[in-house]
Amino acid sequence: EKGAYPYYMLKEIDEQPTVMRSLIKHYIADDGSVTIDDALLNSMKKADRLYIVAAGTSYHAGLVGKELFEGLMKTPTEVHVASEFGYNPPLLSEKPFFIFLTQSGETADSRQVLAQVNKWGYESLTITNVENSTLSREATFTLLLYAGPEIAVASTKAYTGQIALEAILAKKLGEEKGVSAATSFDVAHELTMVANGMQELVDEKSQYEQIAANALATTRNAFYIGRAIDYDVAQEAALKLKEVSYVQTEGFASGELKHGTIALIEEGTPVIAIITGAKTANHTRSNTQEVLARGANVIKIVSRNLAEDGDQIILPDVHPLLTPLLAIVPCQLLAYYTSLQRGYDVDKPRNLAKSVTVE
Ligand code: F6R
Repeated sequence: EKGAYPYYMLKEIDEQPTVMRSLIKHYIADDGSVTIDDALLNSMKKADRLYIVAAGTSYHAGLVGKELFEGLMKTPTEVHVASEFGYNPPLLSEKPFFIFLTQSGETADSRQVLAQVNKWGYESLTITNVENSTLSREATFTLLLYAGPEIAVASTKAYTGQIALEAILAKKLGEEKGVSAATSFDVAHELTMVANGMQELVDEKSQYEQIAANALATTRNAFYIGRAIDYDVAQEAALKLKEVSYVQTEGFASGELKHGTIALIEEGTPVIAIITGAKTANHTRSNTQEVLARGANVIKIVSRNLAEDGDQIILPDVHPLLTPLLAIVPCQLLAYYTSLQRGYDVDKPRNLAKSVTVE
């Protein structure tokens, strides 16, 4: 039931602050302590390396997960596309632990890897939105997103839900390992700030509709750029735009653009820069100058504390490891409006199914 909403995608984008609050309610007690099954925590604490396996948007949530597990838990983490892992598995560490990220819990590429992991005899966790789904049943442990059904083909609230749940888990594990970055990370407070920030962003819809009309409605191609955690978001932002608007879009590491791909920049090519990292902000800004000089139509999405005159989209400030949760919201809305402006059914893009149960 989309109620007053014209499309599920818009409803699901709007639900993201609620998803944050629901995760806090399910996983964090009133005193701020995280409540997660001890057996899962013990199994993960023993691991010398985490292997996150997923597809599509869930893979992009895994990229941010790496920042969270390495930042808060200090455990080396690799992120793998399921369809690649299946045929070309990496050399494993002595004590690997596997995390499957999957909204539907039914993605065939991920199921194939889990079957292999079970054959090897390693323990695993599935983070999913669907209770009793195949990947949930076949993994050792499950954590649910409690995000409510996601109907639109383009995943939105599952992405932010997965990242928030990874943050909760990384906080708890880091705390138990005595990592100071984790003990000082008040995850309930930080996610509440995120929920409030998301609400501010979804309340400003007309702004994104306007930017989409000016920059994206008739373009042939587009780029999202960023560095570090902002590059993780750039990749998801690009997938969102391309899958619902059919605009050929690449998510690119800002610094890598000049090593070849900058040849694609023409008069008016949209280049959307994501700037939330204090260490990388100036470097990404100088990359926007390089493309501007070649005629690009530059749009900047910037955290408030790093904002400068002329930046078009300003994000409320949150913890540096959680900025993807805010940065993705304007990108989801830009994708949504671009699709509508180009005359497409945003909930059911061509050639796509909600869950990909074939290899
Ligand atoms: C993109 C999208 C897909 C899925 C991917 C994995 O918006 O929805 O890329 O993220 O097919 O699906 P799940 O998470 O169900 O395993």
